[in-house]
Amino acid sequence: MLLPIPEVLNPAQLEEVQRLLAEVPFQDGRYSAGKEARIVKQNEEMQQQDARYDRLNRIVMRSLVNHPLFQQAALPLRVASPFYARYRPGMTYGDHVDDPVMGPMTGRYRSDVSTTVFLNAPEDYEGGELVIRTSYGETRFKGEAGSAVVYPSHSLHRVDPVTAGERLVAVTWTQSMVRDAARRELLFELSEAREALLERAPTDPVTAKVSHSYVNLLRMWAEL
Ligand code: NI
Repeated sequence: MLLPIPEVLNPAQLEEVQRLLAEVPFQDGRYSAGKEARIVKQNEEMQQQDARYDRLNRIVMRSLVNHPLFQQAALPLRVASPFYARYRPGMTYGDHVDDPVMGPMTGRYRSDVSTTVFLNAPEDYEGGELVIRTSYGETRFKGEAGSAVVYPSHSLHRVDPVTAGERLVAVTWTQSMVRDAARRELLFELSEAREALLERAPTDPVTAKVSHSYVNLLRMWAEL
């Protein structure tokens, strides 16, 4: 499931994030890449040791993780510390699938869901689309500033070359309580139906049946 999530960050948060990213040092993104990604990855990333990294996370990650659509779609068990990436003209990230297991030995997690948070406006750069390949073809994303998109980490994806301006994003990975992408998608659709019914017909016995089915299906499939 490829799901855009609008308005993860509000304008005031975006302004603060952009101000911080304008002053922090960036380094070659290949330092953090796995063996295969290193060949196709050409971007820059903020150093995570920087004191401003925590400030950025308090804004970006807190907003993302608390967003109801993110919760519903990703069913997060663990969410990784993000990378703040910058693409300047000529920079790109060729076709790849994300590393399956990430994090230090003491805190490893499996990447089930990838998330890109767009930190500047699509008008601020040319090119730089996130292109995700599915069995139905390619989908291209160039999100509004402050929005995000979630997609399965196993999907082949790339960032097309930026030809002008600068693209700023945060990328992070989630180990989901529900490992299988098809099951997550089914749960997402059922939870949307459940929410709509709870809104429209809260006392209808059909609402209770759908709601209980969602809850118990999640219990059946969730692994902690
Ligand atoms: Ni990737």
